Amino acid sequence: MIEKEPSRTAWMAATHRAAHQVLESGRIFADPLALPILGLDAETVARDALAHPARRAMRAFVAARSAFAETALARAVEGRGLDQLVVLGAGLDTFAYRNPFADRLRVFEVDHPATQAWKRRRLGEAGVAAPGDLVYAAVDFERDTLLDGLRNAGFDDRRPAFFVWLGVAPYLTPQAVRATLAVIGGLPGSAVVFDYADPPSALSDEARAAHVLRAERVAALGEPWLSYFEPAVLHALLRNLGFVAIEDLGPPDLARRYWPVVARQAPERGGHVLLAAT
Ligand SMILES: C[S@@+](CC[C@H](N)C(=O)[O-])C[C@H]1O[C@@H](n2cnc3c(N)ncnc32)[C@H](O)[C@@H]1O
Repeated sequence: MIEKEPSRTAWMAATHRAAHQVLESGRIFADPLALPILGLDAETVARDALAHPARRAMRAFVAARSAFAETALARAVEGRGLDQLVVLGAGLDTFAYRNPFADRLRVFEVDHPATQAWKRRRLGEAGVAAPGDLVYAAVDFERDTLLDGLRNAGFDDRRPAFFVWLGVAPYLTPQAVRATLAVIGGLPGSAVVFDYADPPSALSDEARAAHVLRAERVAALGEPWLSYFEPAVLHALLRNLGFVAIEDLGPPDLARRYWPVVARQAPERGGHVLLAAT
């Protein structure tokens, strides 16, 4: 990331969620704040998305990962009474501002300070109020100790928590990914949803070509992709770090669950969304 500047890829991810509302009516992930937080109208968002058809697969992935995360979160809150949510690398994620469990789920948003300050400006301009007990914690996953940052923000690490960590791990070094997973793995009764990508060498020629274009685009924004994982290696790491249950959806699983009509076109390898619980 470019120091002291808000994340550009956070804007990109948010535009995918907004375009999903407009072009697919939020069919798999409904987010009434996705457009307002951008300050753009539906036509502008649709026009831009339609002008770049190659971005459609990423839009489908971004919508699917949010749908998966919020469904798993709802199960944890309703089924197990979990009452702390940590949104890691929150970007322009809007869950905290439309939290259906506001009476019983406290939200901590963790991000770079420049991205948080920009998000709060965006929310103000959109007239979206932040809940009184929402906590913004500034943490750099490459430099800071996540647990210290959370504790300083009032997080209770003696009680379980749900972590949502979407669109962040690919931008971190493998060491920073491991350090964050180690913190969550050490919290009994906790769970995390995050996404990761198969190594480019595992992709088909066609998928690798598309991947290279996307990788060049984010690198040009100052936010290069730094981490890839072979699923079996990542699962072994998670088990070593204290996770006992892992649900990992690769491209075919995600397509079957969220985009069944086009599921047969899904590549074998690519982006994964994973739920891991301690
Ligand atoms: C692609 S955006 C995803 C944002 C959001 N989770 C979403 O899905 O829309 C990447 C996010 O990771 C955050 N990020 C990247 N590197 C980081 C680091 N070293 N420490 C803290 N946050 C980081 C950025 O500030 C940004 O919010």
